[in-house]
Amino acid sequence: MTQVEVKTRVPYTVEIGHGLLASAGARVRAVCGGETAAVVSDDTVFSLYGAALCTQLEGAGYRVVPFVFLHGEASKNLTTYAELVNFLAEKRLTRTDVLVALGGGVTGDLGGFAAATYLRGIRYVQVPTTLLAAVDSSVGGKTAVDLPAGKNLAGCFHQPSIVLCDLDTLTTLPEETFRDGCAEVIKYGMIDSAEFLRELSETPAREQLEHVVTTCVRMKRDVVSEDEFDRGRRQLLNFGHTFGHAVEACSRFAVSHGSAVAIGMAMASRAACARGLCGADVPQTLLALLRQYGLPTGTDFSADMLYGALCADKKIEGSSVHLIVPDRLGHCRIEPAQLTDVPAWLAAGGAK
Ligand code: NAD
Ligand code: GLY
Repeated sequence: MTQVEVKTRVPYTVEIGHGLLASAGARVRAVCGGETAAVVSDDTVFSLYGAALCTQLEGAGYRVVPFVFLHGEASKNLTTYAELVNFLAEKRLTRTDVLVALGGGVTGDLGGFAAATYLRGIRYVQVPTTLLAAVDSSVGGKTAVDLPAGKNLAGCFHQPSIVLCDLDTLTTLPEETFRDGCAEVIKYGMIDSAEFLRELSETPAREQLEHVVTTCVRMKRDVVSEDEFDRGRRQLLNFGHTFGHAVEACSRFAVSHGSAVAIGMAMASRAACARGLCGADVPQTLLALLRQYGLPTGTDFSADMLYGALCADKKIEGSSVHLIVPDRLGHCRIEPAQLTDVPAWLAAGGAK
């Protein structure tokens, strides 16, 4: 088992290894204390791992109350959020109790937002069960739900008390969901390490899972420890996300988050190359790696449609936006752009 210490205002540990669910009760008890544990999970994940986690928590002396919602991005909204905080109140969770988010990024974001706001904040634990959640969303304390106007528009920062990443849970992931996580994994390589990109091209992520998850979590740890509240360097983690969120929104979430990020990274790299900000080797290498991992590299949505969706992105500041662009393999930078210039970026990225 590997432990990664995240040095945010309130520090915490990410534990990565096999079989961690089998000792989850004792770990949650040691770090969080409290009397009641609300286990938040979607129906698919709860049916796979809910009983094991609840038994563990009960064995550690918790009164366990499960909240199970319908799987999928469509549940990450104000309605499910309201049901969840009402549930916490009905079950009389107090400020010393704990919420345990068991699942992918949807569960972590939703559960984290409820934990951040219920009673002005209670402790919560992330138990990521998708590759995407393991390498990205379970670490760093970004919590949110979607609004009809756009993705993640209501949320706040609230760091978990501990992250328990049991790699064994990733074995039941459908291939498509695993692939989505690979987009975020490739993102880390593009931002931070040409060497990691090479490792990913030489050995499939599935065959080096512990190394891949640990490498990504360490990279994310470095970024969020320096910039917890997304004012500077942390924005690099949005590589592929500004254009990607627009693709996701245009598709009404039919395109999954990971696929959208893959498309967004490909567009940003093509555009950066077309504008002379990086060499042709950058989009060439990235596109080859995305294809190797079965990820998409383009979209049929028009530049007009994408621009309309992008204008609702929470990362817009007044009339400008910080685009994240690669300047060489394994390195990205923040490129401020006027919103009026974004259609040209989208066109340079390959949008029709
Ligand atoms: P998800 O939580 O919807 O999980 C994807 C699917 O996999 C679901 O249907 C789920 O039931 C299923 N699943 C999960 N674990 C499983 C397992 N072990 N075995 C079998 N099936 C399993 O989606 P996701 O891709 O994990 O996360 C996407 C969400 O994460 C988006 O809402 C995105 O905005 C958010 N996100 C947040 C951050 C952050 O920093 N907070 C970062 C990246 C993404
Ligand atoms: N997933 C982007 C971030 O955590 O900042």
